[in-house]
Amino acid sequence: MQHVYVENLRDHVGSVVTLKGWLYNRRSKGKIHFLQLRDGTGIVQVVMVAGQVPQDQFEAASSLGQESSIIVRGLVKKDARAQGGYEIDGQDLVIVSPAQDYPIQKKEHGPDFLLDHRHLWLRSRKQVALMRVRSAVIFALRSFFDRRGFVNMDAPIFTPNACEGTSTLFAVDYFEETAYLTQSGQLYGEAGAMALGKIYTFGPTFRAEKSKTRRHLTEFWMLEPEVAYADLNDIMRLAEDMLSEVVAEVLARRAIELEILERDTTSLKRVQAPFPRVTYDEAAKILAEEGTGFVYGNDLGAPDETAISKRFDRPVMVTHWPADIKAFYMKRDPADPTKVLGCDVIAPDGYGEIIGGSQREDDLSLLEQRIAHEKLPKEAFEWYLDLRRYGSVPHAGFGLGLERLVAWISGTEHVRECIPFPRTIYRMRP
Ligand code: 4AD
Ligand code: MG
Repeated sequence: MQHVYVENLRDHVGSVVTLKGWLYNRRSKGKIHFLQLRDGTGIVQVVMVAGQVPQDQFEAASSLGQESSIIVRGLVKKDARAQGGYEIDGQDLVIVSPAQDYPIQKKEHGPDFLLDHRHLWLRSRKQVALMRVRSAVIFALRSFFDRRGFVNMDAPIFTPNACEGTSTLFAVDYFEETAYLTQSGQLYGEAGAMALGKIYTFGPTFRAEKSKTRRHLTEFWMLEPEVAYADLNDIMRLAEDMLSEVVAEVLARRAIELEILERDTTSLKRVQAPFPRVTYDEAAKILAEEGTGFVYGNDLGAPDETAISKRFDRPVMVTHWPADIKAFYMKRDPADPTKVLGCDVIAPDGYGEIIGGSQREDDLSLLEQRIAHEKLPKEAFEWYLDLRRYGSVPHAGFGLGLERLVAWISGTEHVRECIPFPRTIYRMRP
């Protein structure tokens, strides 16, 4: 008998198929059992009627606990009233492994309980939907860059360099030396762009963030394109095209999941390039009007980002930041050397900064000055300075935080649900 996944039932109406999965829920009414079978691609109701299935199977089903693994054979019927639109007339039930007292019940559980049981919580309907959205986002991102001729060239995870400041480094014993878990693949991405023209890195990145906000993880995934001969405007266009195409693709491919997640998709449908652009100085004026308490010269806090994003109907790009609050590698604005050619993309609806990027300092001596000014260890950056010694060119890139993008697209409050096993300041288990 053909093994079919729930998401493909529409192609098998009127046929007898085999479904392999787990018992999500069970209701019994006298001579009928309603078994909800989930297989990761969806949930379908299997109706078992006494007399139409072997008697011992019917009895076994009476006491079957949630998350028992089961294989069901039955007839696929279209049923407009059924969740998902299909129902199975059960003919045969095999209990692969019975389960009792599954810890996650229908009732509301607190976040700590659920996070402690993350290995099981992942089986819940919304969590399955979220992981399917995440997977589709990754696929859409990779295909976007592939279509545009980018080469995927990943960066190492052990590194001697601090890319994003020394205060959030995780140090690791590396034989006789200290290594850090990478904060960003960018510096290696720049080497890749000089070798291959345009590349992207994609992998886990680490920050010893003491922040306990709904947007911060200590381990998160970042996708970082880097393009030789590109300036700030070029990568801003790349970022808005990327977000527009990825959002459209996920809306098309994960409509069912977004519905399960109760995501109102009207605002996502407006995500089309070009995005509004404001300079840091213009953003400061908006914030003065809004009265968020923002102090000029500082980074934007979460309430500031939310206040700015409320003025626009799609993601907004904030550019030309004060050099003092941005990373050493950002290129100075020739028109105003107190500013850098950097850009943050702020998502709508309070999801905050999802992208940080910039044009890079391509002048050897200016870069050396910046490294000295930030008191970074020069010897660890010698290899990076070589990129300016041998054929330096203008170049630019950005980093996209995957979990923040998934949180925004899926309408999820906290980034910790947007990664399979979240690591935060308080949690590295399970
Ligand atoms: O703005 P960030 O720090 O930029 C960089 O790391 C650059 N080196 C990227 C580049 O130009 N290649 O981080 C980029 C993005 C942020 O906009 C945010 O989406 C995400 O990474 N991010 C985090 N996501 C979750 N938890 C954290 N602690 C994050 N820190 C940054
Ligand atoms: Mg940033």
